[in-house]
Amino acid sequence: PPYTVGYFVGSLSSTSINRRLSKALIKVAPRELEFHEIPIRELPLYSQDYDADYPPVAREFKQAISKSDAILFVTPEYNRAIPGGLKNAIDWASRPWGENALARKPSAIIGASPGLIGTAVAQQNLKSVLSFCDSPQMNAPEAYIHMTEGLITDDGEITNEGTEAFLRGFMESFYDFIVRVLTVVPRG
Ligand code: FNR
Repeated sequence: PPYTVGYFVGSLSSTSINRRLSKALIKVAPRELEFHEIPIRELPLYSQDYDADYPPVAREFKQAISKSDAILFVTPEYNRAIPGGLKNAIDWASRPWGENALARKPSAIIGASPGLIGTAVAQQNLKSVLSFCDSPQMNAPEAYIHMTEGLITDDGEITNEGTEAFLRGFMESFYDFIVRVLTVVPRG
């Protein structure tokens, strides 16, 4: 496929509904996109003390971002913000100063919650963080997934036709966005 997408699952839960959502998204995505997860679990808590010499786990993490053409964030909302583990990962990605792996890296955000607000507040929070990190973000469509019992199976099968069509459209829009951002247009 022409483009590789690195995806983050913001949850570390063994029964994560956002991980289920990520599986569903991969299934309905255009064939031009290839996906690999960028794991965040093994990263220590970030400190500037690491800037002089990043540990191997953090170097590999940043390389995984650098070699991706685009990044997809699939995240829950924790206390109306993104989970601490995801923020920690983004802090690692953004440093040391001048070596921000997210700069100019196209991204999109989606999330699922059993609550009706569907991670909307966490997504606003993540948009601010990614703006500061200079990641061009897909503004529309937005996707706030209210996860109900059985909507997506453990293997990522979507059981509702309307939801499947919506998620397919979201991933098609993300593909179009990646092409637009990465297509070089000469000046003048
Ligand atoms: C939550 N949950 C939650 N849901 C929500 O819609 N808004 C919120 O602010 C919060 N806050 C929150 C904080 C903490 C610490 C936990 C553990 C949970 C509920 C959350 O949406 C639910 O547990 C999801 O299942 C989390 O997603 P994963 O881990 O299943 O992908």
